[in-house]
Parts: sequence; C-alpha cells; structure tokens
Amino acid sequence: MNRGVLLLAVLIGAGAAGVFADEVASDPVKDAFRRPLTIPFGGKTSYSPQLATLGKMLYFDPRLSGAQNMSCASCHNPSFGWEVPVPGAVGALNTALGRQAPTVLNAAWMEHLFWDGRAATLEDQAAGPITAAAEMNGNFDDIVVRLSAVPEYKHWFGVLFPKEGVSASSITTAIATYERTIVTGWSPFDRWIEGDEAAITDSAKRGFELFVGEAGCANCHTGWNFTDNRFHDIGLHDDDIGRAALEPNNPMADHAFKTPGLRNVMYRAPFMHDGSLPDMNAVIVHYQGGFADRPSLAKELKPAPLTSRQSEDLVAFLKALTADEADVPTPVLPTTQ
Ligand code: HEC
Ligand code: HEC
Repeated sequence: MNRGVLLLAVLIGAGAAGVFADEVASDPVKDAFRRPLTIPFGGKTSYSPQLATLGKMLYFDPRLSGAQNMSCASCHNPSFGWEVPVPGAVGALNTALGRQAPTVLNAAWMEHLFWDGRAATLEDQAAGPITAAAEMNGNFDDIVVRLSAVPEYKHWFGVLFPKEGVSASSITTAIATYERTIVTGWSPFDRWIEGDEAAITDSAKRGFELFVGEAGCANCHTGWNFTDNRFHDIGLHDDDIGRAALEPNNPMADHAFKTPGLRNVMYRAPFMHDGSLPDMNAVIVHYQGGFADRPSLAKELKPAPLTSRQSEDLVAFLKALTADEADVPTPVLPTTQ
C-alpha cells in the first residue's frame, strides 16, 4: 500500500470517529481501546522528517556493528512484526540471547524499555544493543569515525546536530526518533471500534467479550496498545527473575516481565520473554492454568478452562488486531564514494 492510500485510510478512520461520536451512544468498554491520532514524540530533539529519515538509515545500517554485519533490523525485523521468529535472537557471538527480541512497534507509547523495564527512554535503550558484545558488538569511537567518512551522513548529522555532528548521542537520538514512527496501522478491530459492525466476525466479537470479561486478559492488556506498561509474573516455567533485578525488595517483581502490546501479535511467534510458547494456541492453553506456583504469581490472572469454541473466539479476536498490510521500504544507504 502506498503512502497516499495509508494516509487516506487514517483520515477515513479519523472522520468516522467524528461521525459516530455524534450518532452512536458511546460504549466505555470499546472506547478504552480507541487508537490515538497523534504520536507522542517526547524525545530530546523535536521530531522532523529529516531526523526520522536519518534514524531509519541508521536502524538498517550494519556499519553500527563491530563486524559490520548486523543492524537493529537483524533482530527487530519488519517482516516478523519487528521481531525475529526464533526464541532468543542470535547476536554477534552467534548464540541465542537469553531473552526473546520484543517488538519495537508502538514503542513511542512504551513507558519502560526491555522486558524488565531497565531503560527509561528509547534514546537510552538504543546504545545498549550497539555496544553489547553479545548483540552488535560495536564501539562508538569506531562507529563515529566510520560514519563520518560517509559524506551524506556527515552532511545530515551536521545539519541536524550542528554542535555535535556524528556522536553516540546524535546517533541514538536519530534512531529513537525513527522508532517512534513505527506505529501499527489501522486494523479490522479499529474499524469495529469506530462503528463498522461488519469489520470483524461474530467469533472475533465474542473473543473481545471474553478478553475484557471472563478470561481477564484486559486486566493487564489494556488501552489501545493492549498493555498496562506494568510488570507481572504470569507463571511461566523458567528461572529468569525479570523485574526483580531492579526491584529486589518488591516480592511481586520476582519473575515479572513487562506486559507486551498485542497489536500485530500474530506475526510475532514464538511468544513470551523466553520464546517458550511456539504459537497462539499454546498461549491460550497457558492462560487456562498450570502456572508456576510462586508467591509473585499475578493476582489479575483468571485461570479457567475454555471450550474449544471460546479458544477459537479469542484467537479470532487477536487476529482482528492485525493491521492492514503496509510496505516498509528499506532505505538505500549512503557510501563513502
Ligand atoms: C542481536 C539481536 C538484537 C539486536 C541487533 C538489537 N536488538 Fe533490540 N532487543 C533485543 C533483545 C533480545 C531485547 C530484549 C532484551 C531484554 O529485555 O533484556 C531487545 C530490546 C529492544 C527494545 C525494547 C523493546 C521493549 O518492548 O521494551 C528496543 C526498543 C530495541 N531492542 C531496539 C533496538 C535498536 C534500536 C537496535 C539497534 C541499535 C537493536 N534493538 C538491536 C535484541 C536485539
Ligand atoms: C497478569 C497480567 C496479564 C494477564 C491477566 C494476561 N496477560 Fe498476557 N501477558 C502479560 C505479561 C506480563 C506477558 C509477558 C510475560 C513474559 O514474557 O514473562 C504477557 C504476554 C502475552 C502474550 C505474548 C506476547 C508476546 O509478544 O510474546 C500474549 C499473546 C498474551 N499475553 C495474551 C493474553 C491473553 C489472550 C490473555 C487472557 C487469556 C492474557 N494475555 C492475560 C500479562 C498478562
């Protein structure tokens, strides 16, 4: 889908919101999931299309890694919901990392970054993978020299960061600004929220009722991006202590991980911080019980056996969160010549 069509789709959605606000009595349960129309660009440097374009180039540029063979997109790949389809992404050491690569979709709305929330901003987060030996194994001194030797990069860093030029901070600022533009597009679910009853199937509608009702999913997966941005132990059977590394005195932080958003989730298997659940059926089975028995187990969980029809309905609802397909053109990167 080209840019113009995408923009049109956004405008139609926005228009519908206005029309239905007047004509249809609002439903507070559905309203809680209505998507916002603007992106919160809370970065150090204000948004500009040039800054986001520079950030996009850097996001896809393997020259940010030690061996110049790996970029952010190697592990946060747009073709797989901005993740990778393996449990634990493979980094510079050619071994699987201890945790699954989470999506960068809708990162502009994330209040904490990483599964345990150890970074507060996208700017702070971006420096981590570039220099981590097990991830990109880069070194900012080398990267600055390498990028400065590329005339087009040197020019744009000079225009956008006249005092700093190419630096660790300007690199991560540009990447973070680009990441904030990675937003899930309109989905059938959004059209239904805006009043189009034919946009999703009856099965998906029943799935939504379960999600916000009996199955208790919306106790944690709340709001338009389906996350409360908080940390919970959902009883997975592994040894990772998660958030407890940052909050050692909070008993509920033990084995707790950040609630992931659920938009475009169908592209993002395997699931969970350890990639231990291979598909959505395994996720639905997990939430019916059999949790690791720990004092930190989240009180918001509502384990209950579901009939096969109810499981199908929940999956139909999660599928309705898949946005209309949008191309992600990869940038042509500038070279030294
Ligand atoms: C080798 C694979 C790999 C590469 C390369 C990589 N990441 Fe990640 N990324 C991960 C993993 C794994 C995590 C989760 C780690 C954790 O939570 O402890 C993560 C977490 C993140 C998060 C947090 C998302 C959330 O939901 O909290 C963001 C944002 C992110 N990476 C962006 C980037 C950017 C930007 C780059 C390039 C500069 C990059 N990543 C390169 C594997 C990678
Ligand atoms: C107690 C809060 C809570 C409840 C209730 C809850 N979830 Fe989750 N959900 C989480 C957390 C936290 C994670 C990540 C856990 C981890 O990796 O350790 C998660 C992960 C997921 C994932 C995997 C996403 C990914 O990117 O890997 C899916 C899918 C999911 N939940 C769907 C559901 C459904 C469907 C329900 C209802 C049956 C539900 N959740 C109920 C908190 C919750």
